[in-house]
Formats: sequence, structure tokens, C-alpha cells
Amino acid sequence: MERLSVSVVYFSPTRTSAAIARAIAAGMGNVAVKEYDITCDAPESIRLDSDIAIMAVPVYGGRVAETAVERLKHVSTSVALAVPVVVYGNRDYEDALLELKDIIGEQGFVSLAAAAFICEHSYSRPEMPIAEGRPDAEDLEKARNFGATIVAKFAGIKKGKELLPLQVKGNYPYRVKGTSAPIAPVVDAEKCLLCGVCVDLCPVDAITIAGDKISTDPVLCIKCCACVKYCPEDARSFDTPYTAMLHEKCKLRREPEYFV
Ligand SMILES: Cc1cc2nc3c(=O)[nH]c(=O)nc-3n(C[C@H](O)[C@H](O)[C@H](O)COP(=O)(O)O)c2cc1C
Repeated sequence: MERLSVSVVYFSPTRTSAAIARAIAAGMGNVAVKEYDITCDAPESIRLDSDIAIMAVPVYGGRVAETAVERLKHVSTSVALAVPVVVYGNRDYEDALLELKDIIGEQGFVSLAAAAFICEHSYSRPEMPIAEGRPDAEDLEKARNFGATIVAKFAGIKKGKELLPLQVKGNYPYRVKGTSAPIAPVVDAEKCLLCGVCVDLCPVDAITIAGDKISTDPVLCIKCCACVKYCPEDARSFDTPYTAMLHEKCKLRREPEYFV
């Protein structure tokens, strides 16, 4: 068989969706991989012409993260088969995978396989961990194995096996997200060196530095916590009662689910 071409597309503020998408691609063997990171850049238009596109996004409120929904509207194809993948913080992914499959379906992608993986929750803190350290070695191995499964299914299709519509978990109408108050991470001015790492990482440009003042617009902030996780001075924190609640309620380890 000719060398497969694979696009790896992800929206991934705290990089776990990216890690899963890359591990899936790695498990596909000797394929030509091209990455599209749509986390911080709103693409004008990306037209994918690869054989397969792995599309990985985080689950926010049981749905696809809203910023990812917007960004994915600029990614389309007329040839690529897709692998929608949602990554969630060990609570639940509810209708997110179905929603993702539908969104990319609108953009011309026919889904070949799909999966839901688990990662450390954005709100996890060392003192109140939620799926801390995930994806771990076991998750990544499962992701690579899933990559091999995708290749096997693709080979079958190429040999003439019919591609039936893919069924994934989820319901219509999609879960209605609860409203969330406009809050944002807070900065410890003693620790913050105004280095600007957070400004560069924020997917929605919610953080600005003017003179010696740093501010985060709570209306723009999507609470992804990339700025908290990657602050080199540990100067940012995001306190929400959800952290303690999730820490208590989501202790049971959930495992990846596949739809092939
Ligand atoms: C606003 C928000 C809402 C979230 N909602 C959920 C959820 O409904 N279920 C869940 O298990 N995890 C939830 N999470 C955790 C994220 O799914 C998880 O941290 C995410 O997959 C991280 O992806 P990334 O590392 O690619 O940014 C939420 C996180 C945020 C920031």
C-alpha cells in the first residue's frame, strides 16, 4: 500500500489533546504526518488533502470546547476520512464526540473511527488532583494501538469494504451547557515577572500587559488554564469550587472508549 498521509489537527490549550492525537498518529506506523495546531491561531482556511485526519479537541461542559468549534469551521476537506477524538478530564464527555463528528461532517469529513480519551483535568491542582498525570504511559499505548486499528480499517476500505456510517456515543439534542460566571485566573503580583508567556499561550488573547500591569479579561477567558499550567513563576492560579467537587467525585479511573 502507498504511504498514508495523515493530518493531525488539534485545539489543545494544556496540550493533552495534542499528546493523544500525536500518539494515535505514531501508532499508525510509517505515515507522512502534518500537524495543524489551531489552539492559538484562528486559521483563515485549511483545506486538508491527506488520506486521514485526526481531529482532537477538549471537552468543556460535556460539549466540544466552544473556541474549537469556531476554529474547526475553517478546516475542511473533500478527500480525507476523519478520526474525531475528544479528550476529557475523567468526569464525562457526554455529547462532545457526537458533536465533533457532526461539526467536521459539515466540513466534508466522513468519520472512519472515533475515540474518547482521558487527561488531567484543567482544574486539577497538586493538592486536589483530578486524573493527574494523564494521559499516562498506558493511555498513550492505547492511543498508539488505536492508531494501528485505524490503519487496518482504512486498508479494508481501500480493498473495497463498505464504509458504514460511524455510530458514536452521544444524544440529540446535545447537552445544554450551564452558564458560567465571567471569572479568570488571578495573578500573584509578587511572583509575576511580566514575561508574557501567558499572553502568548492564551488561545483567545484575554491577557494583556500594559506597562507594569497584567490583566486578564474575564469575559474573554475560556478558563482553559494554559496560563496557570505553564507560568514559569507559578504566579497564576484559578480557584473554582469545581476543583474540590471534581476531585471528590471523579476519583474512579475512566478508560478510553473507541468507535470503529
Ligand atoms: C471550562 C472547562 C470545562 C470542562 N468540562 C469538562 C467536562 O464536562 N468533563 C470532563 O471530564 N472534563 C472537563 N474539562 C476538562 C477538560 O476536558 C480537560 O482538561 C481537557 O481535555 C484538556 O485538554 P487540553 O489539554 O488539550 O487543553 C473541562 C475543562 C474546562 C477548562
